[in-house]
Amino acid sequence: MSSPSNGALVGIIGGSGLYHLDNLTLVGTVNPETPWGLPSSPITICSLPSGTKIAFLARHGKGHTISPSDVPSRANISALKSLGVKAVLAFSAVGSLREEIAPGDFVLPSQVIDRTKGIRPVSFFEGTSIVAHAAFGDPFSTKLVAWLESRVRQVLEEEGRGVKLHTDKTVICMEGPQFSTRAESTMYRSWGADLINMSVLPESKLAREAELGYALIATATDYDSWRPNTEAVTAAEVFKTLQSNADTSRHVAAKILEGLHDAASKGDILTEEVGSMKFSIMPRS
Ligand code: ADE
Repeated sequence: MSSPSNGALVGIIGGSGLYHLDNLTLVGTVNPETPWGLPSSPITICSLPSGTKIAFLARHGKGHTISPSDVPSRANISALKSLGVKAVLAFSAVGSLREEIAPGDFVLPSQVIDRTKGIRPVSFFEGTSIVAHAAFGDPFSTKLVAWLESRVRQVLEEEGRGVKLHTDKTVICMEGPQFSTRAESTMYRSWGADLINMSVLPESKLAREAELGYALIATATDYDSWRPNTEAVTAAEVFKTLQSNADTSRHVAAKILEGLHDAASKGDILTEEVGSMKFSIMPRS
């Protein structure tokens, strides 16, 4: 018997505010038990009008019950990989560290700075006797991001709501759950960071170890805490922008996914990372 998950092309990880997708036909729901436990939420398998299947997972659980530090990222990536997805498109709310990136804007970052505190399991190889070092100089799949850039820009322009798309930005991933102090926020700007969130790590590192393509579609909700004479970020401020960002994200997702199958069949935008771990495992002497 064929499972509803057979042949899911991509996994979509929804962040804060994005707990489901629109305009897709529900095929079924699966909840794969992995060696790292259950994923954050059961995974919804949906089909696009073209018949292409996608797998959707809510990073913080369907009812937003899982804090960023407790997201079972190994189970999430492992579960998506077990469904056959070739790449992961991850959505995330982010704070903006730059004046020109306004709340409501979309960003496709190209770099990450790690400010998590070592409490999240970061590798599938942890606790094993295998020593492996994945290349992570370019944490996001460059070909996938390049394809997304033209597609997301086109969709946002067609929408006509004035939502901007920024590219080639650096996202800093902090531990939380508290937001940054003004001093930290200012320091991150001096380091060259443009955005801040609590979720892109270790998710993107684990996708790399699993040889899955990975791109982050970030949506800005606030200006964090660096602006002088302006209130520092609060959860209430983040929530205020979250809903409209999620509506736009659902629209963007529905449109870009439709073209992905065709684009993927013509090149390696989803499979750039396949084979990348080949020489990452240290030989035993
Ligand atoms: N997610 C959304 N806004 C954020 C901020 N200012 N800091 C960390 N994570 C965030």
